Amino acid sequence: MNHDILVLYYSRTGHTAQLARLIARGIEEVAGMRARLRQVPPVAPVTETAQPPEPEDGAPYVEKRDLLECIGLAMGSPTRFGNMAAPLKYFLDSTGAEWANGTLVGKPAALFTSTSSMHGGQESTLLTMALPLLHHGMFLLGLPYTEAALSSTQTGGTPYGASHVTGGKGDNPISDHERDLARALGRRLADTARKLAASA
Ligand SMILES: Cc1cc2nc3c(=O)[nH]c(=O)nc-3n(C[C@H](O)[C@H](O)[C@H](O)COP(=O)(O)O)c2cc1C
Repeated sequence: MNHDILVLYYSRTGHTAQLARLIARGIEEVAGMRARLRQVPPVAPVTETAQPPEPEDGAPYVEKRDLLECIGLAMGSPTRFGNMAAPLKYFLDSTGAEWANGTLVGKPAALFTSTSSMHGGQESTLLTMALPLLHHGMFLLGLPYTEAALSSTQTGGTPYGASHVTGGKGDNPISDHERDLARALGRRLADTARKLAASA
């Protein structure tokens, strides 16, 4: 039987979405595991219903049942002033019922982000994205230094999660190290989720 891992992200210009797809590839390198790619809708300052009912590109919008049905979560956002973007926070703030019901308790989670600048707050974004997931009772996974790319990367990739540095014009391609680390994170998440599900 296949198990799903939810890969949930927000991305306005596509960089975080690229990381999401690499993590999904890593997840699917683990036997019996499938990635379920979903994005959170944008938010509008004027009304909650301004977004189109279906996204114009990228993954479908997340539904609450995705949180229930998946056995793990990879969650990503572009960095906004050293923190996650409002649409992801807005979605998380709507998960009070899932928190009360323990929907995510005991499931593993991993994080990813993208920034335009090298020291523009990747680690603070990854760490602050971890906080709501800890309230949800999830097991947080990072990347260990046994991943060789972590010691040699000159671009993104951190012990706290996968990342990409886009450059000021947003035109840096994903580097080999960023790619390797995103896939490794997906594999690690899927492998852990599979073991936890088997022992439940
Ligand atoms: C309002 C705003 C705030 C941002 N804050 C930061 C920041 O603190 N550090 C940084 O390096 N980049 C910052 N950026 C750049 C984005 O993080 C970067 O463009 C991101 O990789 C885009 O991801 P996406 O293509 O998935 O939308 C900011 C961008 C916007 C629009």
